[in-house]
Amino acid sequence: MGRPYYIAGNWKMHKTRAEAAELAQALVNELKDGKHEYLIAPSFSCLETVSAIVENTNIRLGAQNCACEEQGAHTGEVSVLQLKDLGVQSIILGHSERRHSYKEDDALINKKVKLALKHRFEVILCIGELLEEREAGRVEEVCETQIVRGLEGVDASDLSSVVIAYEPVWAIGTGKTATPEDAEAVHAFVRKVIARLYGEAAAEKIIIQYGGSVKPDNAAQLMAMKNIDGALVGGASLKTDTFVPIAKFS
Ligand code: 13P
Repeated sequence: MGRPYYIAGNWKMHKTRAEAAELAQALVNELKDGKHEYLIAPSFSCLETVSAIVENTNIRLGAQNCACEEQGAHTGEVSVLQLKDLGVQSIILGHSERRHSYKEDDALINKKVKLALKHRFEVILCIGELLEEREAGRVEEVCETQIVRGLEGVDASDLSSVVIAYEPVWAIGTGKTATPEDAEAVHAFVRKVIARLYGEAAAEKIIIQYGGSVKPDNAAQLMAMKNIDGALVGGASLKTDTFVPIAKFS
């Protein structure tokens, strides 16, 4: 049994509620007979609006982050309980912008991963190397560390709720995509790491998305690779014109 393709849009810090509603409604219409699995992750401020639009459709609702505690004195944070209340099904964690601009480390990300899984969310765990790490030949070491530390203490029974997104940092928002072959090499390696941690069967099943300048004209070539099971799309997810062709690639 092959793995499904899973195409996700990370809207990052874009869109007002009205703009988010317009895009979400257009995607619901355009993707209703889409063959793959879909997710959109708006900003926290747009979740309630978008939730009402994607409810009972084939598009899952994602959040871009969550707090590492359930509730309490955490000014400016959003809790898993609040996300549950909004109908969120999936949480993107460890995004490179969280790691690098907001200094989230593997220990914090791991705490969030475990909390999200405890509350029965799907987790999209993002990993990926910086350009200087790639140039220093450290891609595997960096990705392996992020996986091992990010999933520390995660039970095998919860792994079916985990998706890995490989997003080389140098490819995010730069227009520079990893070649399908370079991405595939890392995806195959990620699957090997999962096999070592959780066994072959779990590794065969886990969805590994690629992210970093995915566009309509490179999506199909990336998805054709054996270990690339979908995409986590940033810039191109902000417009139907660019997201729909990616979501409907064949
Ligand atoms: P871009 O598609 O804009 O490169 O962003 C990728 C990304 O960070 C998705 O999470």
